[in-house]
Amino acid sequence: MAALLEVRELCVDYPRPDGTVRAVDRVSLHVHAGEVVALVGESGCGKSTLGLALLSLVPSPGRITAGRVLLAGEDLLALPERELRRKRGAGIAWVPQETGDALNPVLTVGAQVAEVLRAHRPLDREEARREAVRALARVGIPDPERRARQYPHEYSGGMKQRALLAMALAAGPRMLVADEPTTALDVTLQAGILDLLRRLAGQEDLGVLLVTHDLGVVAALCDRVLVMYAGRVVEEGPVDALFAAPLHPYTEGLLAGVPRPGIPRGRLPAIPGQVPDLAHLPPGCAFAPRCSRATDRCRDRVPVLEPAGEGRAVACLEAPPSREGVR
Ligand SMILES: Nc1ncnc2c1ncn2[C@@H]1O[C@H](COP(=O)(O)OP(=O)(O)O)[C@@H](O)[C@H]1O
Ligand SMILES: [Mg+2]
Repeated sequence: MAALLEVRELCVDYPRPDGTVRAVDRVSLHVHAGEVVALVGESGCGKSTLGLALLSLVPSPGRITAGRVLLAGEDLLALPERELRRKRGAGIAWVPQETGDALNPVLTVGAQVAEVLRAHRPLDREEARREAVRALARVGIPDPERRARQYPHEYSGGMKQRALLAMALAAGPRMLVADEPTTALDVTLQAGILDLLRRLAGQEDLGVLLVTHDLGVVAALCDRVLVMYAGRVVEEGPVDALFAAPLHPYTEGLLAGVPRPGIPRGRLPAIPGQVPDLAHLPPGCAFAPRCSRATDRCRDRVPVLEPAGEGRAVACLEAPPSREGVR
């Protein structure tokens, strides 16, 4: 079955006086309809840039320098701006993070949802109002008639995040890109929002790419994981297999930071060092300076992502050979 979203060899550069930052370096990925794919990695690895690039929304002076983004087979990057604007929302939608300023404080939440609806469909005021109430109900906002008439400051953080999700869904997209949608929320609210995304994917056949730096939160809710380091995907695979036996030392390091029952968090080693400055990457594997398994050849050669069996892939010269003997 063809993927809903297919990204091929995507590159995004930010020019800087001291050199070019390649924030996304030849990234390929796919998301099927009904699938929730997590994109994880430390801060500064290029996750947000990749997410934005999927909607062609990379902030200036950033630029997509290579690659293709296919939504249901259609190359979004080749569309004229007007077509692209229509696709944004109706084809692929961005779920912003609820940081306090994502909603307009002087409009009711219902009016804001209605505005998005009317931008994409020929609805009169009353129809749009009714549809907005329905949109709020769909994302689990209780008493949506009353809630639609309220202003953002009358909403809790979790309810505001749900309202933002309602707006992202308003134009009927097939694919959602959510960039750390729950980071500002407490654990219970996070679980509620992620559950909702999971349910929407399953019931409405949405594809979801969920950007997060928290492997633990998404473990139970995502189908597959992409691990990004220094602008590249270094490992990918089904959540269960990847969690049970990570192949890349970086994935191993990320997982070591996830608290598990019976193991006190403080006993787990964190990954030493920091994400490198992407304008001045070390030679060879970008993770080598922080990697306990690195050898001389790691500092010499950039490893490419190679199939590792069972829908998995890894970019590491020292990764254990796969059982299928693919590598
Ligand atoms: N607007 C921007 N202008 C210049 N450089 C940027 C901009 N946004 C991000 N970058 C650079 O791109 C790299 C990746 O950043 P980002 O995509 O935000 O990573 P993440 O979301 O994983 O934290 C970083 O080195 C960052 O400095
Ligand atoms: Mg980010």
